[in-house]
Amino acid sequence: MAIISTKYLLARARKEGWAVPAFNIHNAETVQAVMEACRERRSPAILAGTPGTFKHIACQEMLALGGTYAHSFGVPGILHLDHHEDYDDIVIKVNAGVRSAMIDGSHLPFEENVALVRRVVAYCHLHDCSVEAELGQLGGIEDDKNVDAAHAFLTDPQQAVAFVERTGIDSLAVAIGTAHGLYAQRPNIDFARLEEIGQQVSIPLVLHGGSGVPDEDVMQAIRLGIAKVNVGTELKIAFAAAVKTWFAAHPDGSDPRYYMREGMNAMKKVIHEKITLCGSEDRLNPGGAL
Ligand code: 13P
Repeated sequence: MAIISTKYLLARARKEGWAVPAFNIHNAETVQAVMEACRERRSPAILAGTPGTFKHIACQEMLALGGTYAHSFGVPGILHLDHHEDYDDIVIKVNAGVRSAMIDGSHLPFEENVALVRRVVAYCHLHDCSVEAELGQLGGIEDDKNVDAAHAFLTDPQQAVAFVERTGIDSLAVAIGTAHGLYAQRPNIDFARLEEIGQQVSIPLVLHGGSGVPDEDVMQAIRLGIAKVNVGTELKIAFAAAVKTWFAAHPDGSDPRYYMREGMNAMKKVIHEKITLCGSEDRLNPGGAL
């Protein structure tokens, strides 16, 4: 099964009132864990790789892995570029076969963000690659980037309308009070702001920083227009904790088939919970088609 874009999938999810979970993946085992869970739940999910991920395992190999699992498991293969900031980097990855990209110009002044995103959209749309962009800026740690509270700011609904119209993006990542990484206390999500954005902007909205957000908040966000929920940190923590536990019980152990499987199963448990939360279970037609 080919690697596909997220344009129609996210639009469908928003229309039907559910969300596609996007899981950050880092290596063969984490891709396998996501795809196994997708097969078990007949759910679509997005494999999200940051620039740091593709330094560890090249985009071409990730595409091959995602495409191979999609084909043999009968589930959609979606490899998404998460938080990419560089036009040339995106062009290279689209040429390699990527069909879903986030161009993150959220750190730039509004006009520069618009200009960068427009350029990326012009290229990506020629190649059937959907584009997500962010307005406002989330705090927290993602990949090798740390945005402190002083530099985080929420999405302005009126600017969001202009941003979507002027850039032609397929989905909009909103800053509404979530952050990347774990929360010291319950996140204070600005639902009124999300509702206003959702009323003004018809394209699918994306929630970043999904780890540790209470379930009822995620469900409320989906009701207000969120159609993609990004989860990274919770998966890493579950994987690492299970591997540590395994080594504590097997101090002389060394076989990756055993400790990796422990990590994958712990990660899959979280993935299953997020699939339930997003309402993405049983969204595939017979044969895995969308
Ligand atoms: P968390 O690591 O906080 O779940 O955020 C993931 C994310 O938003 C990826 O873009």
